Amino acid sequence: MSLKIAVIAGDGIGPEVTAEAVRVLTAVRPDIEFEHALFGGAAYDDCGDPYPQATHDLLASADSVLLGAIGGPKWEGLERSKTPEAGLLGMRGALNLYANLRPAKTYAALADASPVKAGADCDMLIVRELTGGIYFGKPRERRENGTVAIDTMVYSVMEVERIARRAFEAARTRRSSVVSVDKANVLESSRLWREVVETVAPDYPDVELRHQLVDSCAMLLIKDPGQFDVILTGNLFGDILSDEASMITGSLGMLPSASLGDPKNGQAFGVFEPIHGSAPDIAGQNVANPLAAILSGAMMLNALGDSDGAGRIETVVDAVLNSGVRTADLGGSVGTTEMGDSVLAAL
Ligand code: IPM
Ligand code: MG
Repeated sequence: MSLKIAVIAGDGIGPEVTAEAVRVLTAVRPDIEFEHALFGGAAYDDCGDPYPQATHDLLASADSVLLGAIGGPKWEGLERSKTPEAGLLGMRGALNLYANLRPAKTYAALADASPVKAGADCDMLIVRELTGGIYFGKPRERRENGTVAIDTMVYSVMEVERIARRAFEAARTRRSSVVSVDKANVLESSRLWREVVETVAPDYPDVELRHQLVDSCAMLLIKDPGQFDVILTGNLFGDILSDEASMITGSLGMLPSASLGDPKNGQAFGVFEPIHGSAPDIAGQNVANPLAAILSGAMMLNALGDSDGAGRIETVVDAVLNSGVRTADLGGSVGTTEMGDSVLAAL
């Protein structure tokens, strides 16, 4: 079955790393049809809108989406609704991408790169709710002549239940443990979160559930990352903890992610992207690590049911790392396209 994949190269190093992901995917799946779309800063420069309607239409009609990275200092002063970040949130909302899966695994070949003593044991999946919480709650506004600012943290039973199910289901394919992270000692939305997770848990008796407050979770991640299998959490806490977890692996340039909605015609649909940012300081220099983008392609194939294709890419990335090929972020001097070449050669 052939696939139509929309590609958002985006800003900064996005186009460079995405190009390598497309090369690798093409080698594994010659039947994929790629269609490029403007998004983020690049789209703003083109038409004054970071998430143009034409891009939305293309994404919505695709089997899935591969995204590079967005944003940069060039667009920082814009009114909030015009920023690349606003485009990203708009896309997540419009495509109903409520389930953000962020695996953080330390590669054996890179274990020394972790800044944390027990970092080599890190192999977790953060399941972050992505279209609710304080990122989307209303009101969000200024009052009192701009001297008071309000954001709203809001969760409904439906929103918590569907993301909790994603986490329990993911745990079943891993080490069968879920740690649900909240701030239930302070926040009402977290108390609801905890209640709903408790009501979902009996449907997954084979999965162990524990609740953890977000501050102590942040601490335990550094002390003993190996104790975490699946972390289930809300939008804001997931944003913060996933950056922390990625640092523990010592290889920000290696980590893929998926933002999934409900399946379309029985098939998964999502936006697959590296968790690293657009890194404007190194853009256009052919030094960025394309492996996170390439592994995002593997994550996409896996979600779309091609676990063989995904497995081939993952095995080859392991082999390339084991052979000592390293981009600058991993302490080497291999360029973006050369890393892509190495992956293709190993395939
Ligand atoms: C992320 C990013 C985004 C977020 C920004 C760019 C809006 O930090 O994907 O983690 O906060 O969700
Ligand atoms: Mg973030």
